[in-house]
Amino acid sequence: MSMHAVTYEGPRELVYGERPDPPLAPGDVRIAVESAGVCGTDVRIFKGEHAAYAGGRGRVPGHEIAGRIAEAPPGALPAGLAVGGLVFVAPNIGCGHCPQCRGGNENLCPATEGIGITLDGGFADRVVVPARAVRKGNLIPLDAAADPDAAVLIEPLACVLRGQEKAGVRAGDTVLVAGCGPVGLLHVALARARGAETVLASDPSPQRRLAAARAGAAVVVDPAAEDLAAAVAEATGGAGAGVVITAAPVHALQSEAVRLAGVGGRVLLFGGLPRGRPTVELDTNAIHYKELVVTGTTASTLQDCRRAAELVGQGRIDLAWMVSDTLPLADAARAVDKVQDAAALKVVLKPSANGRVAP
Ligand SMILES: NC(=O)c1ccc[n+]([C@@H]2O[C@H](COP(=O)([O-])OP(=O)(O)OC[C@H]3O[C@@H](n4cnc5c(N)ncnc54)[C@H](O)[C@@H]3O)[C@@H](O)[C@H]2O)c1
Ligand SMILES: [Zn+2]
Ligand SMILES: [Zn+2]
Repeated sequence: MSMHAVTYEGPRELVYGERPDPPLAPGDVRIAVESAGVCGTDVRIFKGEHAAYAGGRGRVPGHEIAGRIAEAPPGALPAGLAVGGLVFVAPNIGCGHCPQCRGGNENLCPATEGIGITLDGGFADRVVVPARAVRKGNLIPLDAAADPDAAVLIEPLACVLRGQEKAGVRAGDTVLVAGCGPVGLLHVALARARGAETVLASDPSPQRRLAAARAGAAVVVDPAAEDLAAAVAEATGGAGAGVVITAAPVHALQSEAVRLAGVGGRVLLFGGLPRGRPTVELDTNAIHYKELVVTGTTASTLQDCRRAAELVGQGRIDLAWMVSDTLPLADAARAVDKVQDAAALKVVLKPSANGRVAP
């Protein structure tokens, strides 16, 4: 059969076309894509800035995938999965035997592979999930009634969950989330779901501040016009935030984070900085005298994805409203533009869609 797919053909060249369905190797499973999320990683791929895509011409991006099992050789599917079933595809595949993989951190595996990153991904009618990923459990079953557009957010939610586990976000915390794009919104919603008492959120974009309030932030701040430190002081009786999460690739936020954290606080540097300029000036005395724990996380493991899917399945986090735009595959380039537009939230490509674009 042949399928529609969007391929990366070089910087700023995402080409929509037809290509044959690749044959299945033993144990491989073919997924019919229902929805594929587009995120900042795809923007970097599009711009030719993603290291894994240097030799990736002809590769299909798309690592946030929900779809139906379309074809599986006999015996390939683990228990609980059947042809026709709706699944979320956990994208990262560690080598399985290095120290990081053995320690359960396959996101840190030096040989890690990613569907939509080093392997063909979900911006297509169908995607092949390799046998080794199927065996590991990367196909995560979803409720038959689950919304596949919302389910693509399980991937960034898994990253966010990993970050909040590492930063120890827990009941009673006061959490500041700086940056309220789709990722910051997930941080706000997850912190609330974990029992954080007060979540403050900051973003210069008015649309995103509105969304942050909807996600559960009690205080929303425009950092360009208001005094964020004063807002944190007011919300915490002068104590400072228990947890500060930076969810934007902005240098100043990282320096600010250690200032805004209270005694014994945790700082999660979730948004990376541009590769060419990864340094900031940091008041390390703030870390020293307040005994801060400053940490970061990158991507997610299969276990993070399974736990994120569980939270969504239990209805503990409402994701559907965060999907602002669904576009047909042919509009992939426009979808990448939308991702960079603060008026949009989550942008999803749908092979079957005629498209629904927010006004
Ligand atoms: N660690 C991980 O596993 C992981 C996973 C996914 C994304 N990320 C990173 O998370 C970050 C956020 O991702 P996203 O998709 O939501 O990005 P995004 O660009 O959609 O959102 C960033 C938001 O930050 C806001 N912002 C800019 N300057 C600000 C400031 N000074 N104070 C407060 N807000 C400010 C912008 O207005 C925007 O709304 C990115 O840096 C991304 O690379 C990390
Ligand atoms: Zn992503
Ligand atoms: Zn490994």
